[in-house]
Amino acid sequence: MHTTLSLQSKNICITRRDERTKYNEMNCTSNLKIYHLFIIIDDCQNKIIIFAHEFMCYLLISNLKLNIKNMVNRFILNEVSYFGPGARKELPEIIARLGYKKALVVTDKGLMKFGVANMVTDVMDEAKIPYEIYDEVKPNPTVTDVKNGVKACKAADADFIVAIGGGSSMDTAKGIGIIVNNPDFSDVISLEGVADTKNKCVPIIALPTTAGTAAETTINYVIIDEDKHKKMVCVDPNDIPAVAIIDAELMYSLPKDLTASTGMDAMTHAIEGLITKSAWELSDMFEIKAIEMIHKYLPIAVNEPTNPVGRDGMAVAQYVAGMAFSNVGLGVDHGMAHPMSALHDIPHGVACAILLPTIMRFNVPAALDKYMDIAKAIGVYKDGMTKEEAANVACTEIENLSKLVGIPQHLTDLGIHEEDIPALAEQAINDVCTPGNPRDVTKDDIIALYYKIL
Ligand SMILES: NC(=O)c1ccc[n+]([C@@H]2O[C@H](COP(=O)([O-])OP(=O)(O)OC[C@H]3O[C@@H](n4cnc5c(N)ncnc54)[C@H](O)[C@@H]3O)[C@@H](O)[C@H]2O)c1
Ligand SMILES: [Fe+2]
Repeated sequence: MHTTLSLQSKNICITRRDERTKYNEMNCTSNLKIYHLFIIIDDCQNKIIIFAHEFMCYLLISNLKLNIKNMVNRFILNEVSYFGPGARKELPEIIARLGYKKALVVTDKGLMKFGVANMVTDVMDEAKIPYEIYDEVKPNPTVTDVKNGVKACKAADADFIVAIGGGSSMDTAKGIGIIVNNPDFSDVISLEGVADTKNKCVPIIALPTTAGTAAETTINYVIIDEDKHKKMVCVDPNDIPAVAIIDAELMYSLPKDLTASTGMDAMTHAIEGLITKSAWELSDMFEIKAIEMIHKYLPIAVNEPTNPVGRDGMAVAQYVAGMAFSNVGLGVDHGMAHPMSALHDIPHGVACAILLPTIMRFNVPAALDKYMDIAKAIGVYKDGMTKEEAANVACTEIENLSKLVGIPQHLTDLGIHEEDIPALAEQAINDVCTPGNPRDVTKDDIIALYYKIL
């Protein structure tokens, strides 16, 4: 654990809480007096923050060292996941086993129109499973989408949610499920960051239709606060879907450009999750495999949309990436991508993808060993290469993949111009993902990075 000690003023200090904040409690004894300390170890901010009524610094420092050594890494996954083309047909058995009665199906109008949602509801119809549909979710969903969904869930008297869609539908389902069981957070905006919800969300069965976000297995959801024009990243273990069904057949109809951009979002998760500050051996194992698979399967999925090899490969790879990044966090690519969606309505995958090669290069000094692993995983490492050379070929190969699958390469292609950069940078430096970046970034760095791809 890379945590440095920074004792703040006596008795009290301020913290920003986010997904990589870990808590610990301990007792210290001095002169027969017991001090109960509440300690927050914040890897993102590289800070240790101590709450206590009174304490003695020298005592704390020695005990804290001990405490850091004993810190545990946490890894949260779905209770159960199903994989394979056609896996949605397991739904009736799963629902019967869990004893659920009536579903709210959360999806979007596009998926209704293209018959993707029907591929799932047909299975439910056949098994006579009652449900009602909420299909008001918009790409990059908003507080309003969640609030309306809560109303729909209550009106339907549903005891579980079936989320069918990309990250937007699954994230909206998480927000709905959390609020129905934690009504104190009905304003939605108080869920930003790490909210202190007490109850698990309404059980969610999540069926992704894009191979990108892995929202079916993450403990995060991302909702736009329309008033502030800002993406709120909400992190809450209570939101993780109970069941994930990774059925690549639901992805065959995904258009070429969306296949490419959502797939590059998954690649961004895998790379940022590999090099982020909180990464460790278990998360590395998943991310490196995901990078290898996405590099191999994404071009097939883009060019041969109904080839099960490419689609299933991507469906599994993005899930594998999500298993890890959900538990260790991301970096400045996501930090800079979120305001692009919030302020300019850029699809999330496109925003992440366009930034990726530039951010990878920026991070070279902080990720040399990991980039060597990436170069090996994607087959561009050659014997005798230095770490710098390996990192360079890894960055170039990811850039080539991005071009190959048709990702736009300039912000101006997306309608973002020089005068937009200050507002983007202001949000990006404050985004919850940014502190996880392996190389520390300033607002000026972020401005320079946006300029590089203008
Ligand atoms: N929860 C997380 O951990 C997490 C991680 C990354 C991103 N996100 C969030 O997820 C959202 C983006 O999700 P996304 O990239 O999956 O896209 P999306 O859910 O916004 O869907 C994009 C479009 O693709 C269409 N679509 C989806 N599947 C289709 C299919 N099989 N056939 C035809 N059309 C299809 C949808 O109708 C929609 O119009 C963003 O809000 C982003 O911030 C969440
Ligand atoms: Fe993402």
